[in-house]
Amino acid sequence: MLTPFGAFYVPATILIGGGARREVVAQLQRFLIQRVLLVTDVGMMQLGPAREIAALLEDAGISATIFDSVQPDPTDKNVADGLAMYRSEGCQALVAVGGGSPIDAAKAISVLTANSPPLSQYAGYHKIPRAGAPLIAIPTTAGTGSEATKVSVITDTERDVKMMILSVHLLPTIALVDYELTLTMPPALTAAVGVDTLTHGIEAYVSRKAHGMTDPLALSCIELVAKHLRTVYREPNNHEARAGMMLAACQGGMAFANSSVCLVHGMSRPIGAVFHVPHGLSNAVLLPTVTQFSWRASVERYAKVARLLGCCPFHTPDARAAESLVEGLQQLNTDLNVPRLRDCRGVEEARFRVLLSKMAADALASGSPQNNPRVPTAEEIVALYETAW
Ligand SMILES: NC(=O)c1ccc[n+]([C@@H]2O[C@H](COP(=O)([O-])OP(=O)(O)OC[C@H]3O[C@@H](n4cnc5c(N)ncnc54)[C@H](O)[C@@H]3O)[C@@H](O)[C@H]2O)c1
Ligand SMILES: [Fe+2]
Repeated sequence: MLTPFGAFYVPATILIGGGARREVVAQLQRFLIQRVLLVTDVGMMQLGPAREIAALLEDAGISATIFDSVQPDPTDKNVADGLAMYRSEGCQALVAVGGGSPIDAAKAISVLTANSPPLSQYAGYHKIPRAGAPLIAIPTTAGTGSEATKVSVITDTERDVKMMILSVHLLPTIALVDYELTLTMPPALTAAVGVDTLTHGIEAYVSRKAHGMTDPLALSCIELVAKHLRTVYREPNNHEARAGMMLAACQGGMAFANSSVCLVHGMSRPIGAVFHVPHGLSNAVLLPTVTQFSWRASVERYAKVARLLGCCPFHTPDARAAESLVEGLQQLNTDLNVPRLRDCRGVEEARFRVLLSKMAADALASGSPQNNPRVPTAEEIVALYETAW
């Protein structure tokens, strides 16, 4: 069903460009904040960005307690541990430094400072009653766009489900979007998170909930990915391409969070929850198959995406253009060395087959497939998983 009106929520402040991370002190001082919990992961501590931000804060007299136990695909346990530290240290705000995982964990910690646990009661749409502690998000991947979204994805460890939680109270207060932090991403990570960004742009644009505020952002996101993703994969130190992908990621986040992701994300989360395939990679392996299933239900829109991605000559008629997208996305996966699902580390065939109907049910339960141009049944989702295998 189409919503009667479009809604558009984004962070109140977004500073974007090289060096934006160094504004963290001035932004916290605006809110008279003196004690923060810095939410990050071990990788960001070892590589340096988290330590750099902590040093900036300490030099300015702002106490920063570091919580670096967030794992990729963060869990409810990570959130509980971070919340305990936030409370015991008397923190007033959160600063997240990392990819989608630390940012999503920090969002969940923030809302649990003002709303009672368990977090699982807030899974789904608009179920969080109160705003939590202020959060500054500093992304290091390009990426999930989580710095600009009202979404947090947290694994419920009891049910092995990646909960999709969407609420305006999950929006970071401030996003500092600094492409310089992405220069250290190795090629495989660059490719996976880059296809995540592309999937956000495409799904935001074809979603049944797309509207006039999200369309331009989604299209710009796709265009930027077309221009920069292959370059940044080959040339990790190309600043122009890194900046382009960072902008694409932020725009993709703003677009999808206000229109919705669709079937690719719906099917991708169960793969992440069960087999721990990185989020971008599980999207990438599904994207061509799901596009093949969906394009006839929104020919004009898929055609536009195909043209922007250069999958066909510009004047190709809509139906042929839309169809060319499937091959174009397969080619992109090949160029980025994205493996097939069966070749992803950790995905074991027997377990995959046994879990097909649970994964299809979990995909539908998330609500995302219902925003796809063509809404699948559980049986069709099972068939799509089998095709993508
Ligand atoms: N909230 C949202 O709107 C949203 C949208 C899409 C995905 N997600 C979620 O985000 C998570 C994935 O986030 P992600 O893809 O950004 O990865 P991530 O945060 O899980 O990080 C993956 C790995 O990359 C490392 N890394 C991060 N930045 C790096 C850098 N600059 N250089 C080198 N290594 C770096 C991390 O240390 C980690 O080991 C998933 O849980 C996914 O479901 C959230
Ligand atoms: Fe995503």
